Amino acid sequence: MRFTREIVTLNDLDGVAGEILEKASNYKIFCFHGEMGAGKTTLIKSICRKLGVSDEVQSPTFSIVNEYEDSCKKPVYHFDFYRLKNEEEAYDLGYEHYFFSGYFCLVEWPEKVKDLLKLKKADIFIELMAEKRQITVEYD
Ligand SMILES: Nc1ncnc2c1ncn2[C@@H]1O[C@H](COP(=O)(O)OP(=O)(O)OP(=O)(O)O)[C@@H](O)[C@H]1O
Ligand SMILES: [Mg+2]
Repeated sequence: MRFTREIVTLNDLDGVAGEILEKASNYKIFCFHGEMGAGKTTLIKSICRKLGVSDEVQSPTFSIVNEYEDSCKKPVYHFDFYRLKNEEEAYDLGYEHYFFSGYFCLVEWPEKVKDLLKLKKADIFIELMAEKRQITVEYD
């Protein structure tokens, strides 16, 4: 399955976040693709809002993963693999523990961890264009 939405203002984002969660409702792992500044973290913030996360959502700065809590008191994991030097570091982090937990995993820079490709996940591509952003969601 695949769908594309255009985002002109930040106000459009919550609607798309809700639609992603609704349509890909049997997915827990979401990989966010897009160049620097494309809006990955911003979309993750919006998705977390929909999940009822009240913690501050921002890319982990001192680590690779942040843990929040959703409205059901379940963990939500937010990864940013940008600063990962090699895949070994992801293993050291015990990343399988997170990805096989059954809890939401929202991943920036998933390309850094090739093993992620094997998992059941939804991919979200954000493309920054002149006056808008285009968000394409792909899942099986
Ligand atoms: N849909 C949007 N509409 C308007 N502005 C946006 C949108 N998404 C993101 N922005 C703005 O673009 C900037 C970069 O966004 P963000 O930090 O989410 O990008 P990123 O893809 O996570 O970047 P990085 O690769 O550095 O992590 C922010 O200032 C944010 O407010
Ligand atoms: Mg980011």
